[in-house]
Amino acid sequence: MKKILHPNSTILVTGAAGFIGSALAERLLSHNFFVIGIDNLNEYYDVNLKLDRLKRTEAAGRENFQFIKMDLCDGPSIKGLLRDHSFDYVVHMGAQAGVRYSLENPQGYIDSNIQGFFNLLDASKSLTRLKHFVYASSSSVYGGSKNLPFSESENVSRPVSLYAATKACNELMAFTYSHLHGIPLTGVRLFTVYGPWGRPDMAAFGFLRKILASEEIEIFNNGNMKRDFTFIDDVVESVLRVLAEIPLALDTDTHGYENAESSSRILNIGNGSPVSLMEFVDILEKCVGKKARIKFVKFQPGDVKSTFADMTEFKHLTGFEFRTSLEVGLKKFVSWYTSYFK
Ligand SMILES: NC(=O)c1ccc[n+]([C@@H]2O[C@H](COP(=O)([O-])OP(=O)(O)OC[C@H]3O[C@@H](n4cnc5c(N)ncnc54)[C@H](O)[C@@H]3O)[C@@H](O)[C@H]2O)c1
Repeated sequence: MKKILHPNSTILVTGAAGFIGSALAERLLSHNFFVIGIDNLNEYYDVNLKLDRLKRTEAAGRENFQFIKMDLCDGPSIKGLLRDHSFDYVVHMGAQAGVRYSLENPQGYIDSNIQGFFNLLDASKSLTRLKHFVYASSSSVYGGSKNLPFSESENVSRPVSLYAATKACNELMAFTYSHLHGIPLTGVRLFTVYGPWGRPDMAAFGFLRKILASEEIEIFNNGNMKRDFTFIDDVVESVLRVLAEIPLALDTDTHGYENAESSSRILNIGNGSPVSLMEFVDILEKCVGKKARIKFVKFQPGDVKSTFADMTEFKHLTGFEFRTSLEVGLKKFVSWYTSYFK
């Protein structure tokens, strides 16, 4: 049976101007929850896109939505925010995203993803009404694992990018805070999310822009890559269902450790049907009605060859089946893109 969130809840959404955070905030507002969104509106990509997402959320939320420009790295402000508001749920999507950029600007990942995550987690100890804290982890924690599909029980101590290392580190920190302070936490390992209002640094966005401009698209590792592309609407529905499923404090250990009681949980959120990069381009070309000019380039450091989510645990917990095929999702994405940039 589908569980629901407590009515009249006040929910903190971080990264509220981001791709996934804004879609989640908008959906929560459509259910009449009170949402406070924070974001530092950084310039990793075009700030106008972030501002436009916020406008859409403000229109959806009216008086139920408040946006505060705030940096997760600003510990005292985060503490003050959580002291002044009695949040029932925290949905933490604010982070420095992107695998490749973590080679260029590693410090940004330590600041937002480690210090920022710590600030929010530590301040959450003061939330007496907090029912559940859900945060974004990533499929990248599986690194170069060949054990496909990736299951949550896999050892994730071999991240191949600093981005992945920060996400794996968040999972460890969450376990500790749940163990020590009883905070119910779920880390969702998201698999390549795409769709309307998406991120310009990701494949769908970059490829589409270049196809329309008749520029060459770069295909890594001769196209010998697979991704478990996951449509934004399915991610939003999944995160909301997970948010309603509050983890119990159980002895979570299955490896023989003592004293491993924690209400911290990890779940994959992915389509569970990986597609090769060439198939992806082929479907995108059909949606646009135009051929791509392709340049094959070598494998990039920090990247992984394949991702594939084992969704058994998620389905068992929520009963939700992913609905959106790549054909349908990319069609919606192309339609949004062409009307947004017309
Ligand atoms: N999109 C994907 O495919 C994908 C896959 C796996 C994991 N994730 C994770 O999901 C989350 C959301 O990703 P997204 O695709 O929406 O990315 P995004 O970059 O669009 O959104 C992240 C938002 O966080 C904000 N932010 C960054 N650092 C901040 C800070 N220090 N203080 C306050 N705000 C800050 C940014 O301004 C941005 O608006 C991230 O944690 C990301 O790592 C995304």
